[in-house]
Amino acid sequence: MARTAELIIDGKSYTFPIVEGTENEIGIDISDLRDKTGAITLDFGYKNTGATKSAITFLDGDLGILRYRGYSIEELAEKSTFLEVAYLLIFGELPQTDHLEKFTSDIKNHTMVHEDVKKILDGFPSSSHPMGVLASLFCAQTAFYPESLDPNRSAEGVYLSIVRSLAKMPTFAAWAHKNAVGHPVNYPDNSLNYSARFLKMMFGLPAENYEVDPVVADALDKLLILHADHEQNCSTSTVRIVGSSKASIYSSIAAGINALWGPLHGGANQEVITMLEAIKQDGGDVEKWINKAKDKNSGFRLMGFGHRVYKNFDPRAKIIKKAADDVLGKLGVHDPVLDIAMKLEEIALRDPYFIERKLYPNVDFYSGIIYRALGIPVDMFTVMFAIGRLPGWIAQWKELRENKEPIGRPRQIYTGQKEREYIPLTKR
Ligand code: CMC
Repeated sequence: MARTAELIIDGKSYTFPIVEGTENEIGIDISDLRDKTGAITLDFGYKNTGATKSAITFLDGDLGILRYRGYSIEELAEKSTFLEVAYLLIFGELPQTDHLEKFTSDIKNHTMVHEDVKKILDGFPSSSHPMGVLASLFCAQTAFYPESLDPNRSAEGVYLSIVRSLAKMPTFAAWAHKNAVGHPVNYPDNSLNYSARFLKMMFGLPAENYEVDPVVADALDKLLILHADHEQNCSTSTVRIVGSSKASIYSSIAAGINALWGPLHGGANQEVITMLEAIKQDGGDVEKWINKAKDKNSGFRLMGFGHRVYKNFDPRAKIIKKAADDVLGKLGVHDPVLDIAMKLEEIALRDPYFIERKLYPNVDFYSGIIYRALGIPVDMFTVMFAIGRLPGWIAQWKELRENKEPIGRPRQIYTGQKEREYIPLTKR
């Protein structure tokens, strides 16, 4: 028998169907709640709200499980490449050799951006944060490809926009960095793979003089895989809600980039390094900073700690911590902030404040340390997250479109003034 949930309002009972996911998680389908009862639900931060049914990513926050299309993140990070994972997320299956070759070659065909993009870039002062530049350049694609604005685009047209998005992202990202440091931009070298191509555009002075270190390119590819999707997080929900109005893929993703920028979301990786540096400068007294994080009046939080969904451990953080050790070892880098980070983690994990609230290191706690070892400047950390998250945003945008989901439009409980009479300026 189908399971149902009963809701009683003022003594009257209403029944709602229970929907079950493939991993047995359950949700109460309240689609007709307002029609039936006149009431809405109130759920700040959507902590208990399932906004959609999705077949892309599964995560279990209590068990620390993360899977893309059924494959464990641990296995994908170890055995796959970023473009293979992107294909998996977007099209639902791991690619056959010929599919991957075509996908890779289609992407390579579109890595160049229109020369006029450079004029837009020139308009940004070098003090611009690269995330703002990236979001703007991404959105500007709507001007270069106006056909992307058509909400009824063919499947081929959508495929082209997907390929263009993936192809141009590393170019935009590297150019956002070049703008910040005031250097001329480099063009993409299509003989290289995705991560190496980005590194050469970013670090080359000029590109011809830069030799990509395979250790660095491999580490970056792994980091991108770990960030590739994370179901209905803040930026992905933003992409879906913007996309639900039938806005173009480029503007939907630009909105996602902006949502990712905030320090409580993707911007945390930049904040972690700033925090670790501040602790180092302050003499390295880790206990003092832990106490500050526990003091609600300080306004300070331990950045890179805590997660809305993971309440046991973040599986990505485990992989990244090990990768940080490996990469620093291979590159022969000793970063004193890694020692501070490990000490901070050790003390926090023994502290009742963090234990009771189930606060563990998240993906951003160690990623910044690797980025730093790879030579990536702090204000580019969140850009790196955006490069990684792009396939997830695309997959979720595509799924929303294919499922023909309605426009996202939450309700509210109004708490303002009742109707009142207008008082003319002279009488106020
Ligand atoms: N340091 C100190 N206290 C914390 C922290 C922290 N990092 N995170 C949560 N708390 C406390 C919080 O004060 C609250 O305490 P109380 O119950 O006494 O009021 C309790 O833990 C629950 O916190 P919350 O803010 O209600 O939890 P949330 O699910 O709304 O927020 C979070 C999740 C990630 C925004 C939050 O843990 C946080 O601000 N962490 C630091 C920023 C960060 O690292 N963000 C990256 C998230 S992972 C990458 C991504 O997905 O973008």
